[in-house]
Amino acid sequence: MQEHLEQIRAEALAEIDAAQNETALEAARVKFLGRSGSISLASEGMKTLPKEQKPVVGKLLNDVRQSVTAALDNRKAALEAARDAAALADVDVTLPGTRAVSPGAIHPITQLQHRAISIFRRMGFALADGPDIEDEWHCFDALNTPADHPARDEADTFYLPDGRLLRTHTSTVQIRTMTAQPPPVRIIAPGAAYRRDEIDATHLSQFNQMEGLYVDERVTVADLKGTVEFFFHELLGKEARVRFRPHFFPFTEPSFEIDIKAPSLGHDKWLEIAGCGMVDPAVFEAVNQKRGDNAYDPEMVIGWAFGFGLDRLAMILSGITDIRLLIENDVRFLAQFRA
Ligand code: DAH
Repeated sequence: MQEHLEQIRAEALAEIDAAQNETALEAARVKFLGRSGSISLASEGMKTLPKEQKPVVGKLLNDVRQSVTAALDNRKAALEAARDAAALADVDVTLPGTRAVSPGAIHPITQLQHRAISIFRRMGFALADGPDIEDEWHCFDALNTPADHPARDEADTFYLPDGRLLRTHTSTVQIRTMTAQPPPVRIIAPGAAYRRDEIDATHLSQFNQMEGLYVDERVTVADLKGTVEFFFHELLGKEARVRFRPHFFPFTEPSFEIDIKAPSLGHDKWLEIAGCGMVDPAVFEAVNQKRGDNAYDPEMVIGWAFGFGLDRLAMILSGITDIRLLIENDVRFLAQFRA
């Protein structure tokens, strides 16, 4: 019996070693370890052995089974490795790829945003931000916008079921900043704003703004004009012209609209680009009330603010005629804006 088992072992190992593929290997497994394989049959034969031989033969049987199983596993791994190597043999990894990887581009809005931020940074403005999902107080009440103001209408503003809303302008960040820190304040806040506008070639329901706020003890309209003019000259060139027109905003008094005209904009028309003005004392009062102090005492501090839209400006600067292209994520469009 022992001899017979050793013979099975030798035969099995030789056959496993000779198997040239996984089919041959599987056939060998069945032949020796399968239900009617020779090792299984030998195991059956144990029953007829005299009692005293059983332990010795049993031990040998186990040993044979283990060595055959291990040989099968090793051979299988070797065959797999050989197959992988064969698959790679024809691949020259030093050849260039068949498809060029096209590099992405910074989105034109982001490019404009980066330029605007770096210009304001040079004038000492810090970056500030606030949440896109806001409450009515930060978006309207604190900005001196009365309850019956048309901007608060459900037809114009996206309200959430819980009464919160998507901010309709980045002016909310003025309030967020002043409630969080005492004056002086000198910040810009780029970010998204949302309105229930009908979507067409010049309107999206989500667009981009940049807010600015400067509050200190002696701040004048001249600072506001100088800052805005410097910004547009840096952005559009020295020939750019900036015009202030009287206007109304609830949160500033007096308020202005800013128009720009520049050869780099490609046409000779005034473009309405921003709103601005001197911060209304009512805004400071609302902030003080929230803060629970008098840090923004309207008798002591004075400030100005502005807010302009980035989308229209980016479109003109990049020659884009349909605003919807900005959100379609079409790489053929975006690839044109590689710096
Ligand atoms: N929030 C205004 C808008 O979205 C723009 C604006 C006007 C911002 C005057 C200001 C400002 O900070 O002083 O139309």
